[in-house]
Amino acid sequence: MKALMEKNYFLIRRLHSILGIIPFGAFFLMHMFLNSRAAQSPEQYQWVPDTLDQVPYLWAIEIGGLFLPMLAHAVLGVWIAVTGDYGGPSKVKGFAGNIGYIIQRVTGIILFVAVTYHVIQTWWVHKQVGHDFDIYAHMNGIVTEPVWLVAYALFVLMAAWHFGFGIYNFMYRWGFASSRGSQKISLAVGLGLGMLGLIMGWASLWGLVFSEWAKTYGG
Ligand code: HEM
Ligand code: HEM
Repeated sequence: MKALMEKNYFLIRRLHSILGIIPFGAFFLMHMFLNSRAAQSPEQYQWVPDTLDQVPYLWAIEIGGLFLPMLAHAVLGVWIAVTGDYGGPSKVKGFAGNIGYIIQRVTGIILFVAVTYHVIQTWWVHKQVGHDFDIYAHMNGIVTEPVWLVAYALFVLMAAWHFGFGIYNFMYRWGFASSRGSQKISLAVGLGLGMLGLIMGWASLWGLVFSEWAKTYGG
């Protein structure tokens, strides 16, 4: 197994890299966008699971299009983070790039635990109760606990950073940003998209905890 991984190291790194953008990155932005409906009203938020429930073959889309590719990025990511060398990036990218590289790996490992727990805490519950899934009441019940609110705020922040800085790494790795100028642009675009996800994610938390309508829920 080890020999197989080492023989195909280049391809594995490329596969891991693309899976970070599609589906993981695309999912992240979409997920934050849909969750931000909690900042509109509980009814608007309920539209999200009610619509999802109507998608035919949802289980196949979720398993084949989301969970398996995400799992591949996550498992390969943990493997890269644990076994990868730190020598290369420090020479090429300098101090800031090297710190970014370490943060990418640390956030990756934390995200592995966070996403796994989060899916059990949300998606799995939805699967259990089916059409009765009251998304606002469920999420409100979780994040009105201060510890969970902080955990979710940090969860979104880590995913946003990992994604934003990941776009910059991706552009460099695939040869789309070889000059200094294009690297600056990809860093700005990456961090901009990460920031967009962060704002939408934190807006969701505002809608779930601090809005007018959050007060009418038990918590
Ligand atoms: C404000 C923060 C967040 C809230 C309120 C939230 C809420 C939810 C909810 C309610 C579900 C269940 C959806 C359903 O079955 O109908 C879900 C699923 C999921 N969440 Fe989150 N989430 C948040 C942040 C994140 C982050 C940062 C990630 C990591 C990228 C993430 C990854 C997932 C995944 C992989 C699923 C399962 C796939 C799916 O059902 O769409 N979530 N989330
Ligand atoms: C679930 C746990 C996750 C783990 C264990 C993980 C792990 C990693 C690691 C270790 C890297 C750096 C690879 C390297 O040094 O070359 C990385 C890069 C990346 N990750 Fe993740 N990640 C996870 C979740 C996510 C999420 C939620 C997203 C998107 C929102 C994402 C998007 C990316 C992108 C775009 C890159 C850059 C790819 C490249 O360097 O070419 N990852 N990931």
